[in-house]
Amino acid sequence: MQQADLDWANLTFGYHRTDLNIRYTWRDGAWDDGVLTADETLPLHMASTCLHYGQECFEGLKAFQTKGGHVVVFRIDENARRMMGSCQKLLMPPVPEETFIDAVFRVVNANRAFVPPHGTGASLYIRPLVLGTGPQVGVKPAEEYMFIVFLSPVGPYFKSGFKPVDLVVEETVDRAAPLGVGDIKAGGNYAAGMRASVAAKQRGYTEVLYLDAKEKRYIDESGPANFFAITKEDRYVTPDSKSILPSITNKSLITLAEAAGLRPQRRPIEVEEIFAFREAGCCGTAAVITPIGSITYRDRKVVYSENGEPGPRCTELYHKLTAIQLGDADDEYGWVQRIPQD
Ligand code: PLP
Ligand code: COI
Repeated sequence: MQQADLDWANLTFGYHRTDLNIRYTWRDGAWDDGVLTADETLPLHMASTCLHYGQECFEGLKAFQTKGGHVVVFRIDENARRMMGSCQKLLMPPVPEETFIDAVFRVVNANRAFVPPHGTGASLYIRPLVLGTGPQVGVKPAEEYMFIVFLSPVGPYFKSGFKPVDLVVEETVDRAAPLGVGDIKAGGNYAAGMRASVAAKQRGYTEVLYLDAKEKRYIDESGPANFFAITKEDRYVTPDSKSILPSITNKSLITLAEAAGLRPQRRPIEVEEIFAFREAGCCGTAAVITPIGSITYRDRKVVYSENGEPGPRCTELYHKLTAIQLGDADDEYGWVQRIPQD
């Protein structure tokens, strides 16, 4: 198949159109069989619950081209199950795991020309979403839903790529509450954090680091990614919190950290601990591993990278993870699935 004419090595993390997306409708208690379309717009009732009451959730995963020319996805079953949990929490009909996987396979196969070539550093970002499309004016669940999967070939989320970024601890905005929906991929969580993120960027930081909303004492996560650190004792630590997204990348890093002897620990992390860490990073599908160069907390700043280079543990974990994702290393945990060509 002829590849699309894109500048793969310089792609940004943004919307770059592909040929087709796929859409399913839920009506009268069942999902239909889905249809591929070139239409990038949606016919949407103005009283749809997704528009007024945020009845919407989404996912994010990536497909990669291996050296041998196969197209693979990373831990798709985890994304499918997480989206079922998001749907359940928002009273939307869950998309069955088989339907989710079939949708991704169909739409990727219909857009093979947009899977970035191996070794370019780019990947094919896959964005599934579920929307309440039925009209309501009272606050209640819709009676109709859409499940859509669109694709976008992308480069790194933080434009520096695998280079340290500067975070600032956010104390004036909460992204999510402990008993709210911070643990699912609800669109509203991102709307809630946008003003914090934009203000941080205006002040010269890359992103914010949120604290727990209740006590403002523990680290939660960054806007688009989980947080982890390497302690002075050479342990991988990451926050345990009810209001953060259970990151599939973080879960994978915990496995890799265990194998690397970094004795991973998921536990509440006091914000004051940042001053004692040796390395820190953000992790997620879009962020992959993004090393943290510095964190500013009130009038204090801790610097993890003096020379603008990532630390050794972040580097080691980054290479281990990306080698598995790209099919360059043995997939000993069964994380990578090849997309069979139609
Ligand atoms: N936290 C938030 C708020 C996110 O949006 C994401 C991205 O999906 C993550 C963490 C990382 O999760 P994952 O590794 O599953 O992509
Ligand atoms: C992802 O990493 O897939 C996300 O959904 C994060 C998003 C803010 C780009």
